[in-house]
Amino acid sequence: MITGVGTDIVEVERFKDKPELWNRFLSGKEHEYIGKFRFKEEHIAGFWAAKEALVKAINRKDFNFSSVTVAHDENGKPFFEFDGIEIEGNLHLSISHERKFATAVVVWEK
Ligand SMILES: CC(C)(COP(=O)(O)OP(=O)(O)OC[C@H]1O[C@@H](n2cnc3c(N)ncnc32)[C@H](O)[C@@H]1OP(=O)(O)O)[C@@H](O)C(=O)NCCC(=O)NCCS
Repeated sequence: MITGVGTDIVEVERFKDKPELWNRFLSGKEHEYIGKFRFKEEHIAGFWAAKEALVKAINRKDFNFSSVTVAHDENGKPFFEFDGIEIEGNLHLSISHERKFATAVVVWEK
């Protein structure tokens, strides 16, 4: 059963050349992932949108964004990994980004 849905849209420019901001909400694995991209801010903005959409979907704020990782399967499909957070059921995540905006949708099923 679908229990929650969350969506978010962010301006990519907010995340350009902001290493202090990145450090506040990216996990180690996400830092590794963005290392290979020239336009890092697009991916980073997508991660932020994913985490905001997660908060909306599960209606919880009792965790730090750096405890949540947006990981990718072998085809590049994103999914959440959690460090020290328990969430029942399954989460589905989709991210999209362009030069100016990034957006994400999360569906919570249990
Ligand atoms: C995977 C694909 C759909 C991504 O779309 P895109 O328009 O290039 O890029 P978007 O900005 O919309 O999406 C990028 C995000 O998609 C997600 N993504 C990548 N591969 C994915 C996959 N296999 N499934 C779901 N999501 C995927 C990632 O989260 C990625 O962002 P991130 O790497 O920063 O986390 C696209 O590259 C693709 O392969 N399309 C199919 C092309 C094709 O076969 N065309 C045939 C035409 S005849």
